[in-house]
Amino acid sequence: MDDWIDYYDSTHTIYASKRHRNLHFEVIARDIIGYIPSADAVVLDYSCGEALSAAKVAEACAMLILAEPAPGVRGRLIARFAPNTKIRVRSLEDLRKMHGRSIDLVVMNSVAQYMSAPELDAALLNIGRLLKPGGRLVLGDILRPEVGMLRDVVALLRFAAKHGFLGDALIGLISTALSDYRQLRSKVGLMRYSEADMIAKLTAAGFTASRAHRNIGHNPWRMTFVARHSLTRRTAG
Ligand SMILES: C[S@@+](CC[C@H](N)C(=O)[O-])C[C@H]1O[C@@H](n2cnc3c(N)ncnc32)[C@H](O)[C@@H]1O
Repeated sequence: MDDWIDYYDSTHTIYASKRHRNLHFEVIARDIIGYIPSADAVVLDYSCGEALSAAKVAEACAMLILAEPAPGVRGRLIARFAPNTKIRVRSLEDLRKMHGRSIDLVVMNSVAQYMSAPELDAALLNIGRLLKPGGRLVLGDILRPEVGMLRDVVALLRFAAKHGFLGDALIGLISTALSDYRQLRSKVGLMRYSEADMIAKLTAAGFTASRAHRNIGHNPWRMTFVARHSLTRRTAG
């Protein structure tokens, strides 16, 4: 296994149980829906993973584009959402060829940590191109340099205790610690950004950004940023 895309395409143990996986995607969908500006919005979920609650997100907008680099995950998304006329499944390559100024909201949650700095820069430039005037990018679950893995464990255990899957979460943590995840985490690593670093990165890519009060998902020690593209903002007046 060479990179995080391979990892997410494998039968990994990031979700401790079916219940954890379902709850995770329910919470993410609820938070994404909170950012949808109107019922006629076009929404892009960038590296969406299994997106098990995407039908709920699609109900709250006109069209939902699910983009995912892992081919196996993408195949399951295509099969799962084929009957839903509001959902389209795309690769990241497809996004590079898509028409500009076509999207109202881009959500990229829990993805930036797996990208190299140049990969994230290139993705931000493409997202700036894809956004309609006045559109927004929401970048969630950003890891901070000063917050270590222990907080991730505490956040997961709290989420598990609240929702009744503490036993599964403990077993899941042990499986993950013994799995490819640990090797990849030391070999490839995870990217971390301070609040100032991420604002600077978004500014360099042409966005005006600020940190949201709450992170998307269950981990309060990670950060979410909300950004508008400066060019599209000017055009919007
Ligand atoms: C933790 S999952 C997040 C999935 C979903 N957005 C969520 O919030 O549950 C990480 C996602 O990032 C994708 N990913 C991993 N490495 C990537 C890379 N270098 N570029 C783009 N996406 C990547 C994986 O395929 C996976 O879908």
